[in-house]
Amino acid sequence: MTDAPAREQTTTTNSAPVNVEVDTSYENDSSYGDELSRYSASLTSSVIDYRHENGRHYHKFRDGSYLLPNDESENDRLDMIHELCLQMLQRRVYLAPIKKPQRVIDLATGTGIWAIDFADEHPATEVIGCDLSPIQPTLVPPNLKFIVDDIESEWAYDSNPFDFIHARNLALTIRDVRKLIKRCYRSVKPGGWLEFQDWDGYSKSEDGSHNGTALERYYNEVYGAFEKQGYEVRPRPKLEEWFKYAGFVNIHVEKFIIPYSVWPKDPHLVNFPCFRQY
Ligand SMILES: C[S@@+](CC[C@H](N)C(=O)[O-])C[C@H]1O[C@@H](n2cnc3c(N)ncnc32)[C@H](O)[C@@H]1O
Repeated sequence: MTDAPAREQTTTTNSAPVNVEVDTSYENDSSYGDELSRYSASLTSSVIDYRHENGRHYHKFRDGSYLLPNDESENDRLDMIHELCLQMLQRRVYLAPIKKPQRVIDLATGTGIWAIDFADEHPATEVIGCDLSPIQPTLVPPNLKFIVDDIESEWAYDSNPFDFIHARNLALTIRDVRKLIKRCYRSVKPGGWLEFQDWDGYSKSEDGSHNGTALERYYNEVYGAFEKQGYEVRPRPKLEEWFKYAGFVNIHVEKFIIPYSVWPKDPHLVNFPCFRQY
């Protein structure tokens, strides 16, 4: 740690039911301040009437801005990736050296599974999880609230900043991650932390054995399509530079490998649930 830097952060390279009834009680909860008021009027129809296409369904708020579904099988996938991250990080929910944070936000929280774990671990902390989709469970720790918000739009958190901002697995999700990190800088308290856990979306091999494989083709086609649509698909290699650009100091980067299938010798590396061969 350095001596009281202006802002600190670390970078790391590491089924909720759908159509749940939205907890609108926060609309009248003054402890969350004005930042929530802009969602309250339109929560019901413009947020919950999901777009249905080809047997899947998609978020309605800011319809079309995120390309992946928000249905049960997608939520299962997100929860599985959460388990993958926990295994990768030896069951640590985060890596930043935070101490007694008062106010924490999980950006694009998905099913909210990270926020729930964090809120359980820190019962005295006010935790917010925000997402375009209200796909989070209603039965959550009392110190946790979920809100519907677009983190790529101007946000109103600056006047009530956070001790810790967490964002994970936003590859293929956000267009301008650099801008988002700059926003985070404005919304984190001096001495607070920002943690991004994200990927270099494309798969690769150190020995070249991946070249020309169907897996490589899959990534080139699918991730290439996302890139053409303007999404950031490989944030991980650029995070450090973007953190510096935003003004953060005391930057930590930790890199982790996630092997496909069961080839590694290290038993820790073959146990990742998402990429096992079945
Ligand atoms: C790949 S998931 C990651 C979920 C979660 N961070 C995790 O690690 O489990 C991406 C999430 O970002 C949300 N999302 C996409 N664009 C967003 C935006 N502009 N503002 C807020 N949430 C967004 C999606 O609804 C989805 O739940």
